[in-house]
Amino acid sequence: MKSIVILISGRGSNMESIVHAAIPGARIAAVVSNRPDAQGLEFAAARGIPAVVVDHKAFSGREAFDAALAEAIDGFSPDLVVLAGFMRILGDGFVLRYAGRLLNIHPSLLPAFPGLDTHRRALEAGVRVHGATVHFVTPTLDCGPVVIQAVVPVFADDDEATLAARVLAEEHRIYPQAVRWFVDDRLATGAGGRVRLLDETPCDGAWICPPLEAAGPVQG
Ligand code: GAR
Repeated sequence: MKSIVILISGRGSNMESIVHAAIPGARIAAVVSNRPDAQGLEFAAARGIPAVVVDHKAFSGREAFDAALAEAIDGFSPDLVVLAGFMRILGDGFVLRYAGRLLNIHPSLLPAFPGLDTHRRALEAGVRVHGATVHFVTPTLDCGPVVIQAVVPVFADDDEATLAARVLAEEHRIYPQAVRWFVDDRLATGAGGRVRLLDETPCDGAWICPPLEAAGPVQG
């Protein structure tokens, strides 16, 4: 049985998707938030999952916060730490402590749009596809080895809210899948730091948007 600690800062819908997945061989040992008012804490507590707060505001600096956070996490001896909408930048020491067992989800097709406001920036850039990425965390922000990505179309009438909702629905599909692969020991890091999925099912083609048209553009 693998033990998982999930870190949140707010709503916690990705945490919920992982809990709901009831991944065989995995136990959610705790949910930890850096904000006492994080909505997701209620969901965890209602399901009997220890819900712990390490309030970043109670610490003078990042190192002290990171140390307290690591102490809280290590109390549950996790095999895997999952960042699920955890909105604090973690120091190198923290990241290296959990190297190879720290996953994050980011609402863009990394390496495009690291950082904040990804949906607004995708709309401003005029990209036709957008998406979400689950990756191992390394010291450089939003830059670690990619485990899985989901692509969504960007429509002409999208605003930040519609695009975020379309991406979030895919986040809820790919994050439980990535965690399941980790729990099943299917993730290996290959040459150049790329993630290799053991016994991977091959993709059967490209995902193109707008779709290709067999006989040229549609006539009006
Ligand atoms: C999600 O969209 C997640 O990808 C994003 O915050 C949201 C949290 O939602 N994370 C980041 O932007 C991290 N850089 P949730 O609390 O409902 O899971």
